[in-house]
Amino acid sequence: MDRMGILLAGGSGTRLAPLTTAVSKQILPIYDKPMVYYPMSSLMLAGIQEVLIISTPRDLGFFKALFGDGSSLGLKIHYAEQAKPAGIAEALLIAEPYLKGRPCCLILGDNFFYGEGLPALLRQANQSASGASIFGYRVQNPTDYGVVTFDSDGSVTSIEEKPNAPKSNYAIPGLYFYDASAPTRARELQPSARGELEITDLNRSYLSQKQLKVELLGRGIAWLDTGTPQGLLEASNFVQAIEHRQGLKISCLEEIAWRMKFIDADGVRRAAAAYKNSEYGKYLLSLEENQ
Ligand code: G1P
Repeated sequence: MDRMGILLAGGSGTRLAPLTTAVSKQILPIYDKPMVYYPMSSLMLAGIQEVLIISTPRDLGFFKALFGDGSSLGLKIHYAEQAKPAGIAEALLIAEPYLKGRPCCLILGDNFFYGEGLPALLRQANQSASGASIFGYRVQNPTDYGVVTFDSDGSVTSIEEKPNAPKSNYAIPGLYFYDASAPTRARELQPSARGELEITDLNRSYLSQKQLKVELLGRGIAWLDTGTPQGLLEASNFVQAIEHRQGLKISCLEEIAWRMKFIDADGVRRAAAAYKNSEYGKYLLSLEENQ
């Protein structure tokens, strides 16, 4: 059954205020595109064509203005509100009526992934039929994230949310592939001390039944944090450096839709027409010649 994407773009973005006083964090630029383009590209590269975008009542309109019904990208996009920030795992409860018993891939709207081999990993995770598939990535500051530990055979021994004394340097990125049982499991969770339904507790529910697979993302893959002004600038500089050097764009959604055969060359030309004054539009027009 086709997996549905859930893109969570909620939260109040307080770590970025006043940048986020008037506008959603996930609409802010990472170099030449809104932040939300990057996680959307990860879903598309996994092969997902139906996506539920969840955001706050204030911000949902921004995402509708960007993506509409998704048809220009060969996608089907739905929208739902998260009234208050009640935790990442609440996204599964909000998504339940849209999922209708299907598996899903939840991605956080501020998570940036890039690298050789990533599309293959995403496609592979999308094929997994049962349980949950999540990832591990080495970082210098694991206390800011969900942290996973392994034993000598590589089996997962623990998952902790933002531990004060982390037992490993492996953070869990905000990208989670779940089977159809995720909403039922989410319903059984209790709010944490900070009053939120924690995604780490949902992952623990899979772990306790030995149904959690953790794949390590190697050092050739970039997983960047875009939640602080410094992180935003670093991600922008990263995208700018690679795009300028190669003359190829990172997370150009129309290009991905075309290469994935979600849209045809006419679809790319129509999208380009809407952006004809920008470098992005010129890039779209050049795609067919430079493939
Ligand atoms: C959330 C999750 C955490 C995960 C992180 C990835 O943290 O709770 O487990 O490692 O996303 O971005 P938050 O964004 O709430 O700080």
